[in-house]
Amino acid sequence: MTKKQVEESLQYLKKRGFESPEIGIVLGTGLGQLVEEIENPIEAHYNHIPYFPLATVEFHSGKLIYGTIEGKKVVVMQGRFHLYEGYDFLDITYPIRVMHGLGIQKLFVSNAAGAINLDFKKGDIMLIEDHINLQGGSPLAFKNVVEFGDRFVDMSEPYDPNMRKKIEDIAERENISLQKGVYVSVVGPQLETKAEYRMLKILGADAVGMSTVPEVIVANHLRLPIVAVSVLTDECDPDNLQPINIQEIIEIAGKTEPKMIQLFKELIKEI
Ligand code: HPA
Repeated sequence: MTKKQVEESLQYLKKRGFESPEIGIVLGTGLGQLVEEIENPIEAHYNHIPYFPLATVEFHSGKLIYGTIEGKKVVVMQGRFHLYEGYDFLDITYPIRVMHGLGIQKLFVSNAAGAINLDFKKGDIMLIEDHINLQGGSPLAFKNVVEFGDRFVDMSEPYDPNMRKKIEDIAERENISLQKGVYVSVVGPQLETKAEYRMLKILGADAVGMSTVPEVIVANHLRLPIVAVSVLTDECDPDNLQPINIQEIIEIAGKTEPKMIQLFKELIKEI
């Protein structure tokens, strides 16, 4: 990755009308309905944006969408890149650098995740307060990282306390039950064994998923304030573990998404 590549991606998007978005939003697996809330949308397919990672066949629908929500200019990633698809850390975080280059000042991230904390239930939303990186690498471990920012990025408060507080207030006001906790990222794509779920709990995780952490590290590199939520799609109870059902995960994500949309829309209004 070079600055020149990012610049070319930006030129392409600006030419198509992606002018000065204020907020970037990353939509997780099964979370696509927010796109319907975007007014005056302009789309750019990942495959057409110079230097974007080359999309796999199953990922042909990935796109960046620019428009307005609640009167604010946003750029939304419909579909993200994952390590488990064979991309590397630089690939999967490249879109964050591009959205930052477009001018976003805040980043909202969402994902589907499994509930490690068994007080949490599928269909709950969890506000991410902190994370554990178990993906075995970093999107900042590359040779010319200092051209883009510090090498030793502070991670004492990776999720913006102001926006977290606002989300909590909104949830209370709108009667949306909101869990809070620690998200652990794994590579996948295989789901966890019972022994692994036990381990993740001991480590201090409340939810587990296969994304988000690299994007959050890069956003911190860029000093971009982040708010992130997990839509909990399955309960990871090692003593009563059910075989995974991806269809059900996607279905529960879809059913829960309206609550997430409400939280995000209210937050957009308030910031
Ligand atoms: N583990 C990892 N990733 C996931 C899970 C899970 O149980 N559920 C949804 N994404």
